[in-house]
This record gives sequence, C-alpha cells and structure tokens, in this order.
Amino acid sequence: TYIIGLPCVDVKDRACVEECPVDCIYEGNRMLYIHPEECVDCGACEPVCPVEAIYYEDDLPEDQAQFYDVNVQFFDDLGSPGGAAKLGVIDKDHPVVEALPPQAE
Ligand code: F3S
Ligand code: F3S
Repeated sequence: TYIIGLPCVDVKDRACVEECPVDCIYEGNRMLYIHPEECVDCGACEPVCPVEAIYYEDDLPEDQAQFYDVNVQFFDDLGSPGGAAKLGVIDKDHPVVEALPPQAE
C-alpha cells in the first residue's frame, strides 16, 4: 500500500484525491489517510502531492515509520467503506496525529 505521512498534516492539499482511481484516500480533520486494503498500488497519487507526503510503504523515511500504523489504524473502526467521496470529512484523526502540535507550512 501507499502511505500518507507527516507533511500532509494541517496542509491537506487534496490533489491526491483527484488522482486515485479507486477513491481510497479518506479525509480526517488534519490529514488524509490511504486505505491499505482498498489501495491498488497504482501510484498515481504519489507524484501529485505538492509537499511530497505520499510514499510507497517500503520507502517511508525512518522518522515517519509510525505513519504506516497511522494510516492502517485509522480504518480500524471504519472497516472498508469502499469509497471516500460518500463519507466526506471524517470527524477524527489517528491519536498520533491528534497529539501533534500545529504544523507550520
Ligand atoms: Fe495531503 Fe498531499 Fe494529498 S498534502 S491531501 S497527501 S496531495
Ligand atoms: Fe489510490 Fe494512490 Fe493507492 S492513487 S490506489 S491511493 S497508490
């Protein structure tokens, strides 16, 4: 799967959402999250993020390793909704993201 990392927090450019053919990039309050089972690894989202927040799971920088769990666990209580558009903004974030101080651009 692909993973969204720290640079997305408080930025939420959303260019990635337009590119995803399976609509598996879900919006939380402070960042977006890729559904690990719905993502088909097409990679279309990765180059369009202006802050380079998107990584293939094996390419996550070490200092952002926890964002693998951040993306996966975001869906623990959501299951597999099968499309982000119909959900809109989901009123939560992963606890790790909730605990972050405001991120400067
Ligand atoms: Fe975030 Fe980049 Fe998408 S800032 S919303 S991962 S385009
Ligand atoms: Fe979508 Fe990016 Fe996966 S475009 S299918 S989230 S690699």
